[in-house]
Amino acid sequence: MVPVFCLTKGTRIIAQSQRRTCPQATKSVYATSHISNVTEFDLSAPFNERIDYYTDRATDQLHKALPPSSQVPERLHEAMRYAVLNGGKRVRPLLVYATGECLGVPESRLDTAATAIELIHAFSLVHDDLPAMDDDDLRRGKPTVHKQYDEATAILAADALQPLAFSVLANTADISPDTKLRLIRLVAAASGSIGMTGGQSIDLAAEGCRLSASTIEHMYSLKTGALIEASIVSAAILGEVSADQDKALALFAHRIGIAFQIKDDILDVEGETEIIGKPAGSDERLGKATFPGLFGVAAARARCTELFEDALQHIEIFGSDAEPLRWLARYIVERGH
Ligand code: IPE
Ligand code: IPE
Ligand code: MG
Ligand code: MG
Ligand code: MG
Repeated sequence: MVPVFCLTKGTRIIAQSQRRTCPQATKSVYATSHISNVTEFDLSAPFNERIDYYTDRATDQLHKALPPSSQVPERLHEAMRYAVLNGGKRVRPLLVYATGECLGVPESRLDTAATAIELIHAFSLVHDDLPAMDDDDLRRGKPTVHKQYDEATAILAADALQPLAFSVLANTADISPDTKLRLIRLVAAASGSIGMTGGQSIDLAAEGCRLSASTIEHMYSLKTGALIEASIVSAAILGEVSADQDKALALFAHRIGIAFQIKDDILDVEGETEIIGKPAGSDERLGKATFPGLFGVAAARARCTELFEDALQHIEIFGSDAEPLRWLARYIVERGH
């Protein structure tokens, strides 16, 4: 087959006569077969036309990375699959692919980073919902893992998702050992006590406390921002960016990570359980220190917009190549669930 789309670093060459726009054509192919290395997009089309394709691509990769539920211990593997494959917006993989588009990285090189980070995210959600943490019964519109199975199985399923993420990164075939090591370091830092887990610890300790806006934002930058930043920075590692580009993407990611959590908190106040797929009002019930809880929804919305605008400024240097990131940033602050 003649390649209709070719990526070289920072440049896109799209044969005009052979352009094909996603998503339906690709999606129907995808629906009946496994993902192939499709790189046949009209990248000048809006990013939302490729969302279904990338979401399915990420889910397909996750499906393949997870042990089959027929494998012993079956119940554990079933719970792991339930935790990961029970829906979800796949925002972190989308950020990996969008950053890859911006930098001209072929999507096949991005798959393992997208998969690994989503596995860590899924593990964080299972623990977040446990009775010892947020004690929530609903996730992605379905019973949380500890409700569907039991608490011990939920703890173990999350425990097993974490090393699986690192084995996915370590086993990537077509990435150099040096680059793999950088990715493993990045995801480890973003997941651990100086990243997501650290942020979750601060979140729990802050229940019932009046935190300053900057302390709340620091907590958000860890519990939620760390994995969002890792999604963007992982694609930058795979894209061989300049120091200026690297800095711009890191600053964009930092702002968007905080905005993501503020929006999550606003949805917790204003959203409906049936739409957000998790129990609305959970933060108030738990006395969580959240931006809207402490400063009001209007202030939270204003801060979200400010972070969004600041984020966009940082990626101006990429010009129109950053359209996918602009689209996703807007989605993050405007989404309804
Ligand atoms: C929810 O994340 C947890 C937070 C970090 C706020 P998402 O809103 O990305 O959850 P899913 O993956 O789409 O269910
Ligand atoms: C979540 O914050 C963070 C994680 C790191 C999992 P929340 O506790 O607000 O997330 P939801 O609202 O339960 O998804
Ligand atoms: Mg929580
Ligand atoms: Mg929670
Ligand atoms: Mg929340």
